[in-house]
Amino acid sequence: MEPYRIKAVEPIPFLTPGQRAAGLAAAGYNLFRLDAAEVTIDLLTDSGTGAMSARQWSALMNGDESYAGARSYRRFEDAVRELTGHRHVLPVHQGRAAERILFQSLPVAGRVTLANGHFDTTIANVLLAGGDPVDLPGPEARDDAPHPFKGNLDLDRLAAHLAPGHPGPPAALVVLTVTDNAGGGHPVSPAHAREVAARARAAGVPFFLDAARFAENAHLVTRRDPAAAGRSAAEVARELFRLADGSWCSMKKDAFGNIGGFLTLQDDELAERCRNLLIATEGYTSYGGLSGRDLEALATGLAEATDPDYLADRESTTAWFARALQDAGVPVLTPPGCHAVYLDAAALLPHLPARSLPAVSLACELYRAGGVRCAEMGSLTFGRPDPAGGPDTPARRELLRLALPRRVYTRSHLEHVVRTAAAAAARADRLGGYRIVRQPPHLRHFSAVLAPE
Ligand code: F0G
Repeated sequence: MEPYRIKAVEPIPFLTPGQRAAGLAAAGYNLFRLDAAEVTIDLLTDSGTGAMSARQWSALMNGDESYAGARSYRRFEDAVRELTGHRHVLPVHQGRAAERILFQSLPVAGRVTLANGHFDTTIANVLLAGGDPVDLPGPEARDDAPHPFKGNLDLDRLAAHLAPGHPGPPAALVVLTVTDNAGGGHPVSPAHAREVAARARAAGVPFFLDAARFAENAHLVTRRDPAAAGRSAAEVARELFRLADGSWCSMKKDAFGNIGGFLTLQDDELAERCRNLLIATEGYTSYGGLSGRDLEALATGLAEATDPDYLADRESTTAWFARALQDAGVPVLTPPGCHAVYLDAAALLPHLPARSLPAVSLACELYRAGGVRCAEMGSLTFGRPDPAGGPDTPARRELLRLALPRRVYTRSHLEHVVRTAAAAAARADRLGGYRIVRQPPHLRHFSAVLAPE
């Protein structure tokens, strides 16, 4: 059961099927464009949508709003440094700000960044810095077997990219995204991370963690890695960070922030460059675009992130949700991680090719049928448009992510989602495809306008 009780509640909207159909059309069949007031159960993201604890709310009053050297920053810095062990701790307003500052401060132009899976904003920020983000998903990620660490990358391909005579652009950075949000929310194992760190170091390329879900990764390690049996998620997480030359973290996920993030670095010169950009574009080095009270709530949230009772409940709720969806006839990626269940839209809608955006079709149906909003993670989000106007390069898979905001929805909310998904699965063969009518140059899934084919 949930290791907490509910202290404040927020009503959720209920709409008629007619209102939902009209809302969907007005939103250009893109669920990002719906108002939240039109959504009954919002599984669009687990980012910034968590419920803060009573302790976090009370920490807000301790916020020191001094411009420079605030007490709240020192508390934040101590909490982040204890977790990461890294010398330099830069606060930022959210993860993508850390990405922008880091990629603008490293020599990324004309080079590749190598990752188990870059998330959408990471891709955009590498591209904006003139680099090329290359995903190297591991062999386990590509098959349907329930491998425990499908977040691991392909070590052979990494070695090939890092080899001295490798043709093509050199590597600017090696990244492990924990957990691999773009690929299924799967964890990375510590032994694998050690291997990746060693290879990056041997090649003289910095190795960073994209650590938004560091606590869930660590918890899954304690459950799936025999070498970590009996260890705490906090210990496992601390060790993982210490393998890296730096990290960035959206604290809107595991750290229970509604806003916030950090960038940590070991290298003094790189930290100096990043700090200068931080001051110019986010805020002074002791607040980085956050208020003192945010820093307090985040420091408290960081400690709660690795609470064993909370993490055990998080894992078991997600596992229950995945099983219930499977039992309802909906194909899901297995084994599920913690932050989301990923539906395999290509398997459910085999009559729709990638260019017909099957995961968009399923997303629209879940909204139409039950007011459930979730995030497409297929060719709309991860397909690459052809600059010459030809057909897109499709995504590796056509996934639909049902993300679980932390400490927000109960099982009866999720039972509604399962019933909605079962109804959608029952009429899967009648669901039609979608086409893109209008799209921006980057991150098109946030604002593209779509239409039924
Ligand atoms: N890295 C990962 C792995 C993420 O999942 C996200 C955000 C970011 C970086 C960027 O962080 O949003 O604080 O700027 N993911 C959200 C999601 C938006 O829905 O998964 P941000």
